[in-house]
Amino acid sequence: MIELNDVSYSYGGGELLSGIDLTLAPGSFHFLTGPSGAGKTTFLKLCYADLLATAGRVSAFGQDARAMGRDDIARLRRRIGVVHQDCQFLDHLSVTENVALPLTVSGRDVVAEAENLTSLLSWVGLGDQGDSLPPQLSGGERQRAALARAVIMAPEIVIADEPTGNIDWEMSLRLLTLLVELNKMGKTILIATHDLNLIRTAKQQVSARVLRIHNRGIQLAGADL
Ligand SMILES: Nc1ncnc2c1ncn2[C@@H]1O[C@H](COP(=O)(O)OP(=O)(O)O)[C@@H](O)[C@H]1O
Ligand SMILES: [Mg+2]
Repeated sequence: MIELNDVSYSYGGGELLSGIDLTLAPGSFHFLTGPSGAGKTTFLKLCYADLLATAGRVSAFGQDARAMGRDDIARLRRRIGVVHQDCQFLDHLSVTENVALPLTVSGRDVVAEAENLTSLLSWVGLGDQGDSLPPQLSGGERQRAALARAVIMAPEIVIADEPTGNIDWEMSLRLLTLLVELNKMGKTILIATHDLNLIRTAKQQVSARVLRIHNRGIQLAGADL
């Protein structure tokens, strides 16, 4: 689904990522770890074509990221749902409206999707908070609202950047459960995290591969976690 061939990336200084070869297969579950500043967010952005590799080739669904036009990128964004590190919302819109935003933006009839929206919100445990405003949500609730927004377009791949960064352990487990459920529904999952406890817990529930950024490359971590 996503394939990187000899990919390097530099923001202008030295190379941050170098010579990366990797394939994310359909239905796979990957964690990406590495210290802060190692390039996890950058790597994710290369995967969903928010950044273009400075060398090498990234392809998503068989299409070269460098050859994608604006429409291709829009189509790609529907097939890859992203939970961003800072998960921002429009604070004057309700939680439901925020989650529905990708539908609105792509011109879909939100009223016709009302039932979907309701069941999605209750799936993430926000069935009673649809009318709340984002500032009224706790950290864990914000992350689950961001996950709902990321999957509203029924993407095939879900990418989450440090989704449990600022939330307590119980809330982290709850979010992990949702990501594992998505994987069991057939979605391909890629999560950047430096939370090794989260990875250990996940490995008891799902067959996950752990990638580690080390010396600008990506290596497969062993069972030593
Ligand atoms: N837009 C940017 N311009 C220049 N440098 C950047 C930019 N974004 C990130 N960096 C730098 O690239 C490095 C890796 O960042 P990032 O991918 O966010 O790492 P991580 O997510 O692993 O913490 C950091 O040193 C960061 O300061
Ligand atoms: Mg990051």
